[in-house]
Amino acid sequence: MDVYEAIVDKRDTRSFSPDPVSDEDLHRVLQAGRMAGSAKNQQLNRIVVVTDPDDRATLAESGKFADWVAGAPVVLAIVVPKEGGKAFDIGRMAQNIMVAAHGLGLASCPVTFHDEDRVRDLLGFPDDHEAPMGVGLGHPAPPEEEKQSSPRIPLDELVDWGRWKA
Ligand SMILES: Cc1cc2nc3c(=O)[nH]c(=O)nc-3n(C[C@H](O)[C@H](O)[C@H](O)COP(=O)(O)O)c2cc1C
Repeated sequence: MDVYEAIVDKRDTRSFSPDPVSDEDLHRVLQAGRMAGSAKNQQLNRIVVVTDPDDRATLAESGKFADWVAGAPVVLAIVVPKEGGKAFDIGRMAQNIMVAAHGLGLASCPVTFHDEDRVRDLLGFPDDHEAPMGVGLGHPAPPEEEKQSSPRIPLDELVDWGRWKA
């Protein structure tokens, strides 16, 4: 798959088949996350791989829009220190993971965990860490419907050239 196509065609997908993700695919996806840059190359992000169905059900109850992660064969929770963890670094890692997954034919979607304590109790990271975001992934649910993109604002509304446009 062409890189531009992989980026532009990637849709956030929340329906999965129960087929497990192979160890090889999971390894490639995690490597893609590992190679994401970070501020000062501090590499403060950590990833907890969650596949146990009961644990995924708990994660599904840990976000306001997270119910679908119960059906995602793999949920990757991105854990960062509260002091120093950067949203930009989480985003870079998550996007690497999701674009790489897309290239392997896997579906994925970001998920926000609003109930910080619940996620901490489940995954066991210390009080000075948090897992605000994760990624659910797996093989797309059949039939593979072409998911339409949620509308995006036009490019000329997104982009200003040289100066902020009033
Ligand atoms: C920071 C961030 C948090 C998100 N959190 C959730 C979430 O909690 N639950 C969910 O279903 N989708 C979540 N999404 C997915 C967005 O809804 C999705 O990116 C948007 O609808 C565009 O989808 P599309 O690329 O398929 O058009 C999140 C996306 C981002 C960037």
